[in-house]
Amino acid sequence: YVHSSLYWCWDNGNEEKRIFIDTDNISFPENFLWGTAAASYQCEGSGDKAPVASNWSQWEPAGIKHGQRCGMAVDHYHRYKEDTQLMRTLGCNAYRFSLAWDKIEPIEGQYDKDILAHYHDELKELHRQSIIPMITFHHFVHPLWFEQRSAFLNSSNIETFVRFVIDMFREFEDECHMWCTINEPEVYVSGGYFNGVFPPGHRSQANEASLVLQHLLQAHVEIYDNIKKIARQPEQHSIGIVKDIFQFDPWNPLNPLDIYASRILDHGMNGCILDFFRTGSLKWTMPGSIHRTYVNLRAPYTNDFIGLNYYSHFLIRFNLFKQPPFEILHRQDDSGSSLMTDMPYALYPEGLYRACVRLKNELPRIPIYITENGIADRYDDRRHLFLRRYLYALSRAINEAHCDIRGYFYWSLIDNFEWAEGYHMKFGLYHVDLQTQERTLRDGAKYFQYVIQKHREKY
Ligand code: NOJ
Repeated sequence: YVHSSLYWCWDNGNEEKRIFIDTDNISFPENFLWGTAAASYQCEGSGDKAPVASNWSQWEPAGIKHGQRCGMAVDHYHRYKEDTQLMRTLGCNAYRFSLAWDKIEPIEGQYDKDILAHYHDELKELHRQSIIPMITFHHFVHPLWFEQRSAFLNSSNIETFVRFVIDMFREFEDECHMWCTINEPEVYVSGGYFNGVFPPGHRSQANEASLVLQHLLQAHVEIYDNIKKIARQPEQHSIGIVKDIFQFDPWNPLNPLDIYASRILDHGMNGCILDFFRTGSLKWTMPGSIHRTYVNLRAPYTNDFIGLNYYSHFLIRFNLFKQPPFEILHRQDDSGSSLMTDMPYALYPEGLYRACVRLKNELPRIPIYITENGIADRYDDRRHLFLRRYLYALSRAINEAHCDIRGYFYWSLIDNFEWAEGYHMKFGLYHVDLQTQERTLRDGAKYFQYVIQKHREKY
């Protein structure tokens, strides 16, 4: 299938414009990073030591589908060399992963030297295999002691997190030059304080949610400024936040109530954060929260890049009989461009294009990395289509909309623990046999390998 071009209708948001597309017509810049992304908790497992306590370990098994536990995950801790080799097999030259704060500092103030040594080894292996590392400091998980002190709900904990990050930067600054401060702040906030599917499982706590969001963004700004101050070679280091964009589009683009509901959601999840980085002012206006404004005029200067995670969009229908008064729908249409994935996400490559253009317009001159994009597809019957269409959309954002996109990290190299969904969601380019830990390249992933290879041949 790598040679067949594939045609489908491009549905440009709510515009009527429909174009037939040849998805073979793609190209990427010379120094483009091709990578995969992961988070420590989801793939490492506990390694050689007894499992440590974190906000997530405590959330299991009750908070996970079918009462699963993360446990040894997919043992990336022991298999990082093999996994790095798999990245090479794909042709990748970059890898995004997170440091496990829970393992590094299981007791406040005491760093575990073995774990730090482990990350030095992993970074060495990445360099040996010519894979550029990108490290995330906070990817949903932190030590239990931090959670027990109310984590980011309490403003006095910001400095604890910033202290940890500064120490980690000092530890690894010679081995890594790309840093993501916080992964998907609004997902952490909405999961933990709004819909309750992430720890600490609070529901509809709009005031808590707005505070946590503010503190996360405050931490981001402090991390940026601190790192730039203490780095031995500040100009070598790029720092950015990872923002995911799910668009909230009206179910019926002509219905003012659908439009209103989708705008409120979009502002609360996306707009207010982008505004913060454009203007320095954070205005959270989700229903039920006290309207608050937090101003930090440094904010517009604290991203050397923006990490964009993109999966899909949601269609919002206003519904007075629901609490909150809307429902999230997905459209299955005849063009085939709204196929569903195993997650409640439709295949919507156009949305990746729209998200890139939005970042370009709202945060001009800040380079973008696609720090995550991927599909949960247990039968591997849509992954090929997904990759084809999303990579096409990406190429178009670069070549037609002139977005400054520097790299693409597929989520994820191998199957792993998908938070509240447990092990049922299969995002891996490689299938993992959870009994034997054997990794096998999925057929649908070969298109990714093919695109990277083509790109290599060109440059
Ligand atoms: C975003 C999150 O950062 C990651 O942890 C998660 O596994 C993927 N989305 C897939 O849902």
